[in-house]
Amino acid sequence: MSTMMKILCLLAFFLVFAAMSGNNGGVSDAAATTADGEAVFKSVCTRCHTSSRICGNLGRDASWWERTATRMRSNGAPLEAKDIADVAAFLSAQAPGSSPVCK
Ligand code: HEC
Repeated sequence: MSTMMKILCLLAFFLVFAAMSGNNGGVSDAAATTADGEAVFKSVCTRCHTSSRICGNLGRDASWWERTATRMRSNGAPLEAKDIADVAAFLSAQAPGSSPVCK
């Protein structure tokens, strides 16, 4: 194989690899958001009230949870903008009655 061919093969390999890892990156970013949201839920959302208040609202969409978490911040919850997006992603993905929110 000529040097030029070797370089082209390497280049093609890296392009395919970069495209694949780019896609995987997108998927794992979404998963990390939900995992981060669960951590926020566990560390912040049960400080002032029990999770039964949250359990009773499972099934609502992400925008309802974003509005609610933003109101919790006005109530005094220590939440960054990213925490609000993460916890909304996590809570909107939980089926009504499911653990860990409803035990
Ligand atoms: C600083 C204390 C505090 C923290 C931390 C807190 N909450 Fe609350 N939460 C309240 C208070 C006070 C109320 C009742 C007044 C209200 O609804 O704003 C409430 C009510 C609620 C309700 C009932 C709302 C309704 O309309 O039925 C939900 C759901 C809720 N909180 C979810 C959360 C979530 C999710 C988090 C974490 C992101 C959280 N809370 C963190 C103080 C807090």
